[in-house]
Amino acid sequence: MKVTVYNCREFDEKELFLKYEKELGIEMVLCPDAPNEENASLAKGSECIDIITSKMPRELLQIFASYGVKYVVTRTIGYDHIDVKAAKELGMTVANAPYGPNGVADYAVMLILMTIRKMKSIVNRTRVQDYTLKGLMGRELKDLTVGVIGTGRIGRTVLKNLSGFGCKLIAYDVYENEEVKNSGVTYVTLDEMWKQADVITLHAPLTEDNHHMINKEAISKMKDGVMIVNTARGGLIDSEALISGIESGKIGGAGLDVVENEFGLYYYDHKEDILCNRELSILRGFPNVTVSHHMAFYTDDCTETVVRDSLLGCKCFVEGRENPWEVK
Ligand code: NAI
Repeated sequence: MKVTVYNCREFDEKELFLKYEKELGIEMVLCPDAPNEENASLAKGSECIDIITSKMPRELLQIFASYGVKYVVTRTIGYDHIDVKAAKELGMTVANAPYGPNGVADYAVMLILMTIRKMKSIVNRTRVQDYTLKGLMGRELKDLTVGVIGTGRIGRTVLKNLSGFGCKLIAYDVYENEEVKNSGVTYVTLDEMWKQADVITLHAPLTEDNHHMINKEAISKMKDGVMIVNTARGGLIDSEALISGIESGKIGGAGLDVVENEFGLYYYDHKEDILCNRELSILRGFPNVTVSHHMAFYTDDCTETVVRDSLLGCKCFVEGRENPWEVK
């Protein structure tokens, strides 16, 4: 069997693909670029293609289908970049490769700690040998109420991680989880969340219903000095409202692994470019806002898992076996 891999990263994924090529007996074509009309012909003779988050609209799927591709797997959890309906209509199967929740959950806790301890300012000062203390007083988690929005795989792991810090834990989800309730965490309404939480951490997917769930009105109901951490999706927060909240001092700090309109910016070197994302520039400039480029997932475990499982799914498909990674 043959798999054509797109967006294969030279510096971390290539070695893993070569390892699994041997172990699983799969012939592979490795392409460093995103799939497009020009390089689609690389997939001639491959039943499967292996991609990441680049857009896979109907027109492109059609080209791959014409080359005999029947299976599209994405080395990510989300698959909203693939037109799944079109793929099905073209007789193609779509699959994903979910990784464990720990990498993102660890990262969220790190951003919480960095935010409450003003780590960005501490690092900025030590960089210029400014070893003063004034303005750097932090807070202790044991004195704080942390609100977790979205208690799925990642949110639940964050709650477990935080349970050792002695903070009060509250949660909000559209579906309440028994395991969470039994662990002593209290589910509250969103209004109660805004009222009670000193720190809010987001772990819900972005949907039509929760776009800008943190907006001007929500922020106005929050505690003074509230800190917000987002490792979920940028669209959950209205960036303009967040900026105003930070400027007025209502929001005491933020840790943002994701921001609105990050698509096309992250994972590229834009040192010399004028970027069209003013909100990102403003947020990056605040001393109490830590921004990272959507990389909470990026660990050794996650990288190996997505490479391995994307290929195992291809094997299941080609051999006609039950495929746990198939998107139904
Ligand atoms: P999951 O599907 O296991 O859990 C999501 C939870 O959010 C579910 O319990 C669901 O009921 C809840 N939810 C849905 N709509 C909601 C709403 N309007 N309000 C509150 N809760 C709501 O997903 P998982 O694996 O825990 O991932 C959570 C999110 O983390 C993903 O959707 C993705 O956006 C983000 N993510 C970010 C990564 C990064 O590198 N920064 C990597 C992986 C995921």
